[in-house]
Amino acid sequence: MSTIEAFIRRLPKAELHLHLEGTILPSTLVDLSARHDARPITLPEAEALYRFDDFTGFLESFKAVTRLLIGPDDYELAAWRMMEHLAEQGIVHAEVYISVGVIYLWRPHDPAAFEPIFEGLERARERAERELGLSIYWIFDAVRHFTVDEAERVFLKAIELKAAYPSIIGIGLGGDERRTGSEPFRALFAQARAAGLRLTNHAGETTGPEAIREALSIGSERIGHAFSATKDFYLMQEMKERGIPLELNPTSNVRTGVCPSLARHPLRKYFDQGLLVTVNSDDPAFFGSDLANEYLLAHTVQQFNRRELRQLAANSIRASFLPEAEKANWLSRIEHAE
Ligand code: ADE
Ligand code: ZN
Repeated sequence: MSTIEAFIRRLPKAELHLHLEGTILPSTLVDLSARHDARPITLPEAEALYRFDDFTGFLESFKAVTRLLIGPDDYELAAWRMMEHLAEQGIVHAEVYISVGVIYLWRPHDPAAFEPIFEGLERARERAERELGLSIYWIFDAVRHFTVDEAERVFLKAIELKAAYPSIIGIGLGGDERRTGSEPFRALFAQARAAGLRLTNHAGETTGPEAIREALSIGSERIGHAFSATKDFYLMQEMKERGIPLELNPTSNVRTGVCPSLARHPLRKYFDQGLLVTVNSDDPAFFGSDLANEYLLAHTVQQFNRRELRQLAANSIRASFLPEAEKANWLSRIEHAE
């Protein structure tokens, strides 16, 4: 490990844009298939499922992998393996999207299916807190290209369970922005906010800056990707003035074909212009990266020095949904990290 890699490893940092399903490695997929398939897939067959040429292909791959998450034990296994890997990278806190929408869409006749699954996720979370000193919040992802009725079930479930499970911190909208924007979710966002849920939204990943404006207009507190904001100077100014946190995912954007290269990713530009940027890994098992590697790439490709990497880590804590006292604690540790 180089000295810069060791420094990155030691920096306390938060991962704010990470899909549980996107952390499942082919080797884990083989284990899941052995549980469920009459003819379990081999490792090369599993690896083939992770190949895609563009964003649409990526969503297909994501779906193929998610299909093998069926029962509570599958979710618990995937979550635990994800958490072990987070801790290895020096991540102290993560806010993890779960595609709750698919659980309802694929099992519409079994409305009770979700609670046991969520208990499996919670077992992994509690163990990670105990054994790894890692804190995890869950973000229920309604998956925007399903219908608004499907999304409503996800929102209502989050509202219902929040009192019993404070680890449910918010709502997210991933999925295909080209098919569904943000406007249809305005009322649901207002309802979720009134119930104390925090709101984040994928916007401007495969769409233009107007999608980011639309996301902000329905009350999104953080923006996932915000890749196209660079095309709209006034939008960038507004997000800077309002301190809107951006969950950037550089390798993801290159691998899904929305960005031509890491060198041309707007991370550096947003950072230099004073936007509240964070770097994240999105779906590390699909993109061949992880958060520590995203920090390393910021250093090697976009010349972020140690002070700037420390700033990225501090941004990740500031942009998180952690309580202020916990933020202050991590920020002082980041300041003193050498
Ligand atoms: N679901 C998982 N990863 C995603 C991404 N990058 N964009 C939209 N939906 C997703
Ligand atoms: Zn995402």
